[in-house]
Amino acid sequence: MTLKILVVGGGGREHAIASVLSRNSEVELYSVMAKKNPGVWSVSKRVLVENETNVKRIADFASDIGVQCAIIGPEAPLQAGIADELESRGIACVGPTREAARLETDKGFCRMMMDRHGIAGCPKYRVFHDQEDAVLFISQYPGELAIKPVGLTGGKGVRIMGEHVDRNGAIDYAKQLAGQVVVEERLIGEEFTLQAFVDGTHLIPMPLVQDHKRAFEGDQGPNTGGMGSYSMPDHSLPFVSHNDREKALRIMKDVVAVMAKIGQPYRGILYGQFMNTQNGPMVIEFNARFGDPEAMNVLSLLESDMTEIIIRITEGTLSQGSVKFSKEATVCKYLVPEGYPDTPRTGRPLTFGDYGKALLFYANVELNNGELLTQSSRAIAFVGRADTLAEAEKIAESAASSVGGDVSHRRDIGTEALLQKRIEHMKEIR
Ligand code: AMP
Ligand code: GLY
Repeated sequence: MTLKILVVGGGGREHAIASVLSRNSEVELYSVMAKKNPGVWSVSKRVLVENETNVKRIADFASDIGVQCAIIGPEAPLQAGIADELESRGIACVGPTREAARLETDKGFCRMMMDRHGIAGCPKYRVFHDQEDAVLFISQYPGELAIKPVGLTGGKGVRIMGEHVDRNGAIDYAKQLAGQVVVEERLIGEEFTLQAFVDGTHLIPMPLVQDHKRAFEGDQGPNTGGMGSYSMPDHSLPFVSHNDREKALRIMKDVVAVMAKIGQPYRGILYGQFMNTQNGPMVIEFNARFGDPEAMNVLSLLESDMTEIIIRITEGTLSQGSVKFSKEATVCKYLVPEGYPDTPRTGRPLTFGDYGKALLFYANVELNNGELLTQSSRAIAFVGRADTLAEAEKIAESAASSVGGDVSHRRDIGTEALLQKRIEHMKEIR
């Protein structure tokens, strides 16, 4: 029997999701995206080009086609209530309801929920409704802080004292922010991402990934949506112990249990961003979806049928046996327009060389008369997959270097030198 599935979103992450779903010959894919993503497009039977937060249009499109289920890539439609709308029309959704998505969309809610229910890994934090109170607190606090707007900012809204700003800069930033501000202790350590499939009750983890937020090599420059990421054949990371990983997993399972207990069961992909500190993993944030780029790492390793996983998520029957990842390393490198993220050069043509064994994922590019043009965000990504990190890096790097045009990428992602730096940093901390 044919299964009609809707994919919402048009980035590299959604191209990866659509690719794994399209492996199943009984699946008919439909998609909605704000801009035509050539990768998602090529595997879709029909595409609606529409703002991804236009919940009503999207739901009408899904109802007209008669899709049985939907998977939501980005956070904005979740915040706009897409899961609620689809489910009210009998369409199962991989992606939480608006209320459950507050784990990501409302940083104050997330911290208070962890705090109230005694979930481990919550840094010291304060939520301010009044800017003057925030300013006073920041000026008097003895240590370094992270200043965050309470809502969504595409990963670019956080200012860290001692990294992006000094105390005065932090105060100025808090003054600039309209609405609520979350202020929390600055965590020191190495970051890692733990993503999981969640069906409301059961949580099945995916391999750990490390993303690279900074725009330039050596972790310099402004924060971005993520410049690239890697994962290891053992599905862990060399600066994360077995105990650290178990703690992170426990935290995520506790969050799922609390969400069910407070009447907001969580169904979809849960993304945990952790800082591995002297005292083990602390939660930087949760996201209510796959990470971008991290989705490309893990989905490139998925051996199980994604369609079956999706069905199990919607039915509440997830089990470890239904999720298997290949024991290989992956390296993902994003090509971004020159000047990204502050002053990206848009509308510039990209040319491809021979990208060998690498997997190509389209993100924010426009196909115009056969020409691929840069837009303002991350353009395309390559994933290398191999038995070792070194081989995977080589595949991704040589593919990324084969592209011509006004684009750049971080050559250091997935290299032995950078990995050693992370390991040394962790040793210093502990
Ligand atoms: P977020 O938007 O919360 O993911 O934050 C973006 C980035 O800011 C994270 O990936 C971290 O690198 C950094 N960050 C956020 N919160 C903290 C914190 N409390 N301490 C140190 N770094 C943080
Ligand atoms: N790579 C970080 C994110 O997707 O939020």
